[in-house]
Amino acid sequence: MAIQWNSSLATGVAEIDNQHQELIKRINNLLEAMREGKGKETLEKIISFLDEYVIVHFGTEEEYMDQYNYPEYSTHKEEHQSFTVYFNNLKKELASEGPTSVLVIQTQRKLSEWWENHIALLDKKLGEYLISKHE
Ligand SMILES: [Fe+2]
Repeated sequence: MAIQWNSSLATGVAEIDNQHQELIKRINNLLEAMREGKGKETLEKIISFLDEYVIVHFGTEEEYMDQYNYPEYSTHKEEHQSFTVYFNNLKKELASEGPTSVLVIQTQRKLSEWWENHIALLDKKLGEYLISKHE
């Protein structure tokens, strides 16, 4: 099912919100490509996108957490680190196995899960904190 961004997820920081929306677009593209039988090609695209995105996006959030003395900074950062470990393994697997169907499905699941468990929970919480600091 396609993922929808909504304003309850806004962090009040345009940079972060734009990055989240871009990620959602990419996850939805992958889902659509899978339905059309083009999952393997799209997997390589999304992985090269994530390569830069993960560093830039996590970096942006961590900068804001640091700047605003976010009390849950370390828990949040740990999740970013574990995603990065997962992502590096995924790249290794892609390099050795190529874009297999199993990898396509696993990646789609992982990203949807990341959306539900991280963006819609932890990032939302961070957003509420940042918004409260801006008021
Ligand atoms: Fe985050």
